[in-house]
This record gives sequence, structure tokens and C-alpha cells, in this order.
Amino acid sequence: MEQTPQNTSYNKLNLLANLFKEGRISISEIAQLTGRNEDQVTNAFIEKGLINPSVILVCGGAGFIGSNFIQHILEKYPYYKVINYDKLTYAGNLDNLRNTEKNPRYAFIQGDITDTEKLETVVRENNAKYIINFAAESHVGRSVMFRADEFVKTNVIGVHSILETAKRNPEHIKLYIQISTDETYGSLSLDDSRKFTEETCFAPNVPYAAAKGGGDLLCRAYSRSYNVPVIVTHCSNNYGPYQHPEKLMPNSLFRALRNQPIMLHGGGQHIRDWIYVQDHCEAIDSVLHKGKPGEVYNIGSDNEKSSLEIAKTILRILGKPESLITLVPDRPGNDLRYSINASKINRELGWSPKVNFEDGIKKTIQWYEHNMDWVERIRERDKEFSKYI
Ligand SMILES: NC(=O)c1ccc[n+]([C@@H]2O[C@H](COP(=O)([O-])OP(=O)(O)OC[C@H]3O[C@@H](n4cnc5c(N)ncnc54)[C@H](O)[C@@H]3O)[C@@H](O)[C@H]2O)c1
Repeated sequence: MEQTPQNTSYNKLNLLANLFKEGRISISEIAQLTGRNEDQVTNAFIEKGLINPSVILVCGGAGFIGSNFIQHILEKYPYYKVINYDKLTYAGNLDNLRNTEKNPRYAFIQGDITDTEKLETVVRENNAKYIINFAAESHVGRSVMFRADEFVKTNVIGVHSILETAKRNPEHIKLYIQISTDETYGSLSLDDSRKFTEETCFAPNVPYAAAKGGGDLLCRAYSRSYNVPVIVTHCSNNYGPYQHPEKLMPNSLFRALRNQPIMLHGGGQHIRDWIYVQDHCEAIDSVLHKGKPGEVYNIGSDNEKSSLEIAKTILRILGKPESLITLVPDRPGNDLRYSINASKINRELGWSPKVNFEDGIKKTIQWYEHNMDWVERIRERDKEFSKYI
């Protein structure tokens, strides 16, 4: 065979593949020796049948962030299989994954994270290596207005059930990432110069945040007591495609499109740190590949905006009058301000957000405008709720 640079490189990779098969060299060493990156080496080895694609069990993947994450991971990495394990509550929507369901590296299983037996079976039968848990009761207002039983079941007992699954199956589960929220840290005053760090004590003010905090504390305890390889992330408010219309951003948008009043609690002064969902997915991607088990990482975009600013921005972009804004009395426990310090994930894992707020909100508005049928199907499914959209 003629000695071209391509042939030489191919032969070198074959040689190194043999050493890899014998367990004498790692992927990262091969990447260094061949001048390729780790993904390229891994893909080449999958093609040669030397490596089986790793299975990620995504819990709650039919919701807003989980479905964005599944699409992100399948598009970016050819060597992962994803199993989406979701109970399909009112917030779960397989419509979010219509573009993904034909992908041979994707499978859906309907199940509840509180069902430890079923979770264990899924992990064992599919040799799942990673669990990423997005499953939660996630609507703060519902946790305050109605009973919080389901919040405690899913956000505390469900997390316990995943931890038990990871603890009992160490030969399978190499990492569990628990997706949590900045709301566990409580509230800041408007003029407070501090931001939430990973060391900030939990001070939840609503049942949703308390239940999430309970799950997070169990993760810490299982890491310390049993060495379960778990990482907890605390992210700020997300916005972007596929968010259920009960949440502030899409709700304001749909109401504005229909010339209906946008209802803002408590003078619209509540401040959240808004992050575009794709940035959050990339942060989780960094945690999956570079995060250290036992650690906690805050994720945020340094993008504090009041709900009044959000509503005004939406109306400006849609060319609608600000007179659509209607201020209504505040709801109990409504935190005034969240502000997140994400310097640890930046410093240690090299992640930083890429999407600025103006671009992110324009992309979001465009997505919803082009996908009104997605919203209509939610309204069809839930007649009671449709009154509020
Ligand atoms: N949306 C945000 O702004 C935000 C910000 C920070 C953190 N988080 C956290 O991220 C995660 C995902 O949030 P989201 O906005 O995508 O939520 P979501 O409500 O859109 O989706 C939740 C998903 O979990 C599923 N689910 C609920 N209970 C379940 C159970 N017992 N077993 C299996 N599946 C179940 C639902 O069917 C749904 O598909 C949550 O844990 C939330 O606390 C959200």
C-alpha cells in the first residue's frame, strides 16, 4: 500500500486500537498521540466495534429542559444512546421530541422515578452508565396554590429512589446528575450585592423549592455516606423552545399575541436571572464530561431582569402596547430576587453562557410563533388549563 499521510495515520490508529483493546492505553492518551480529539477517537472506535455507545438515562426528558437536553446530546455525540424515562404528567409532552423519536439511539419508557424497582430494571437491562434527572414537579405557583404532595413525592422521594438505584448498581452507574434550581437558596433584597454561591445555605420559601432542596440534600448525604457518584447543579430561570405555557415567559407571549392582558404579580418587580435553555444544556454537558462527583455547580447567565422588564421586552418585539400589562396582587412566598454566582463552573469546567438576552428572547418568540400548533395541542389536552393561556 502506498504510504500517504492518511494511511500512516490510519495504521497508527489501528495499532493504538489494539493497545486499547488490551487495556494498555486510554482514549485521551490516544487522542494526544494522534492529534485528534477524544470524540474523534471514540467515534472511530465505535465504528470498529471496540466501544459500545454509552447509555444515558434521562429522567423527565419529556419536559422543557429535558427534551432540549436530549436533542442536544443526540445531535452532538454520535456515541450516546438516550433512554427517556418519564411519567408523562401534565407537563410531560412527547410532542417535544417528534424530531427525535425515529433516532435509533433514542428510546422512551413511561415510568415514575419513585418506582425504584422499575428504575433498577431499566438501568440493568440497558446497562445505563449515566443518570441525569430533570423529572420534577416544577411549577412554583401550583406548589403554593394547591397541596404540595406531588412535589414531595417526586422531588424528594423520587430523588431518593434514583440514589438507591445508583447505590445498588455501581457496576452500571458511573455518574448521576441531579438538576436543581437556584430557588433552594431563598431570596435576596434588591440592593444586596451578594450572589448565591455553592456554599450559600438553603433557605427555601415555597414548597417547590423546599422539596427540591430535600432532594439535593439527599444527594449530598448519599455521596458522603455511600460514595454514590452524584453531582448537583443549581440553575437559574430558563427560557426557550418547548417550555410549558403555564410559565411566565411563554404565558406572557401567548397572551400578548392574543391581545390579552399579561398578568404580573406584585408590581412586576420580582427579579430572576434568565438563561437561554441551550446554554443550560451545554452547562450540563460540561458537568457530564468534566464534573467531579460529590461537587455542586451553580449555573447562571448574569442576566437579572424583573418580570416587568420581561413583559415590556416581549411587547416591544411583538409591536404591542404596554397597556396590556396588568399588575395583580402578589402570591404568597414569592421571592423578590435571585442572583447566581456561576464562577465555579466557569473556572473549573470552562463553561460560560453564549446567548445574550436580546438574541435569546427573539429566538424564543420566533420559535413559539412558528409552533403555535404545539401550543394548541396543549390547550386541547388540558381544557381547564387552556383558560389561562
Ligand atoms: N424551568 C426552569 O426555569 C428551571 C430552572 C432551574 C432548574 N429547573 C429544574 O430543571 C428540571 C426540569 O425543569 P423543567 O422546566 O424542564 O420541568 P417540566 O415541568 O417542563 O418537566 C418535568 C418533566 O418531569 C416529568 N415528571 C414529573 N414527575 C415525574 C415522575 N415522578 N417520574 C418521572 N417523570 C416525572 C414530567 O412528565 C415532565 O416531563 C426540574 O428539576 C426543575 O426543578 C428548572
